[in-house]
Amino acid sequence: MKASVFIAMSLDGFIARPNGELDWLDAANAKVSKDEDFGYHAFIKTVDVLVMGRKTYEYVLTCDEWPYKDVPVIVLSRQPITFPANLPKTITCSSEEPPDLCNRLSQEGIQHIYVDGGITIQRFLAHGLINNLTITLIPTILGEGTPLFGSVPQDILLQCLSSYTFKSGFTQIKYTVLTEDI
Ligand SMILES: NC(=O)c1ccc[n+]([C@@H]2O[C@H](COP(=O)([O-])OP(=O)(O)OC[C@H]3O[C@@H](n4cnc5c(N)ncnc54)[C@H](OP(=O)(O)O)[C@@H]3O)[C@@H](O)[C@H]2O)c1
Repeated sequence: MKASVFIAMSLDGFIARPNGELDWLDAANAKVSKDEDFGYHAFIKTVDVLVMGRKTYEYVLTCDEWPYKDVPVIVLSRQPITFPANLPKTITCSSEEPPDLCNRLSQEGIQHIYVDGGITIQRFLAHGLINNLTITLIPTILGEGTPLFGSVPQDILLQCLSSYTFKSGFTQIKYTVLTEDI
């Protein structure tokens, strides 16, 4: 099973303001042509399960509509979550640790998971469970916020597969995480 990250990050490494707001990202996106999705729709079509942290889930709930349609979503939290009745029935919650969750999903035949949320991505990275990262660098410096990366038990080496700067000035960098046997 493969695990991917597909995320937008400020130039100084944040994915949200300290209060969780994404107004800076919305403001940057407002200047982008409506038909530019930075490869998101092509990416999400390849995803079998989206695994997100509880804080990301709570942010998504504030959006006008649930954006993932029927893509199965697992929300990670140490507490059980009661989902609003209007959300798709494909949303579940779990308190499994990343290795246990990945083993279970793999045994269920899942081939590709999308991991979202800063703390959540950090936990999967620390366990060596992320294979690919697509980071869209937004040319905004926030100064403070929710970091994409945090401390790691040991250096994580990556290989850059591509980088591309869109007309909007967003630069998308694709990485694969190098494993020891490469
Ligand atoms: N820029 C972007 O593209 C982008 C993308 C995604 C999210 N965001 C933003 O990032 C912010 C959220 O990121 P975040 O780093 O604060 O948090 P997060 O990763 O979304 O959520 C963290 C929470 O997930 C739960 N969790 C994670 N791993 C777990 C595990 N293995 N087992 C049990 N629970 C687990 C814990 O919930 P409990 O505390 O309930 O136990 C933890 O507090 C939001 O503001 C969101 O809007 C931005």
